[in-house]
Amino acid sequence: MSEIDMEVSIGGVLMKNPVMPASGTFAEEAAQIFDLNVLGALVTKSVTRYPRMGNIGPRIAETTAGMINAVGIQSKGSQSMLNTSIPFYQQYNSPLIISISADTADEFIDLAQELSVPGVAALEINISCPNLEDDGRSYAMDPAQTFRVVDYIKKKTKIPLFAKLTPNTNAITEVAIAAEAAGADAVVVANTMLSMAIDVESRKPKIGNIMGGLSGPCIKPIILRMVYQVYKKVGIPIIGCGGICSAEDAIEYMMAGASAVQVGTYNFVNPIGMVDIIQGMKEHAIRHKISSLNDIVGSVCVIGPEDIDEVATY
Ligand SMILES: Cc1cc2nc3c(=O)[nH]c(=O)nc-3n(C[C@H](O)[C@H](O)[C@H](O)COP(=O)(O)O)c2cc1C
Repeated sequence: MSEIDMEVSIGGVLMKNPVMPASGTFAEEAAQIFDLNVLGALVTKSVTRYPRMGNIGPRIAETTAGMINAVGIQSKGSQSMLNTSIPFYQQYNSPLIISISADTADEFIDLAQELSVPGVAALEINISCPNLEDDGRSYAMDPAQTFRVVDYIKKKTKIPLFAKLTPNTNAITEVAIAAEAAGADAVVVANTMLSMAIDVESRKPKIGNIMGGLSGPCIKPIILRMVYQVYKKVGIPIIGCGGICSAEDAIEYMMAGASAVQVGTYNFVNPIGMVDIIQGMKEHAIRHKISSLNDIVGSVCVIGPEDIDEVATY
């Protein structure tokens, strides 16, 4: 087989391949290590409207097969994104996705409008962050709140909107359905899982914020299951994100229903890991005579109940 079609289109954004970094695990410095043009898209750390200090340390703790982080959306603010980061990323031809984070729906709109500028292909709304209008719970824990905030932002924004969901809900499919109904162009499944670790010598939490978000290979089977469930219920593209460390992991996500993937924690283990993953996906396609990666989306062969509502959950 000569040429493999690696191209995917996510909510109107054309990507040369389905691999992109996960927000908060990638920055301009990556350009010193590899050519960013190889990536399907570039995704920024979540930016807030005004500069934000983030949480007190320690902000990260290693766990078995993963890590806990509570960085707390440290941000230089939207002006710095406009003046420095966007012009920097514009030298690359991979589409730029800006992740935005806000405490209220109005703040999301202000940010979305401010950052809808040439050179920005899409906005990823981090609705996994606390919502001050709902007692600090995240929007994406609840379908009604998700609908409200996505609908509100979508009506006042022209560029594609990707909604990043949280796994900290027992209603992931309902939340994804709500995001789609409100006009999201894609959903990212998902952010980190709420977690905790204790140093038994000092009896202190290992994270300054006490709790933090668990990421890395340990969450992969859980998020993969969520991608599968969401794929069965929504029509918009899904970007799978959680514990991807190899081409095989990425392909597993696509077989479960993801149209593209994001790589997070693995970037800290192997800073050129995404380059290897893209190459590995290409080799998988050649080995299996797959002409387009789009053909593997949702291609898991399920024996048994096709209707996920009938699948036993134990
Ligand atoms: C240090 C760190 C910082 C992160 N910062 C953000 C962020 O600013 N915005 C966001 O939406 N997700 C953030 N995330 C979550 C990742 O984007 C990703 O959803 C999560 O880590 C799961 O993917 P992984 O297992 O491949 O890391 C962060 C994750 C880590 C480890």
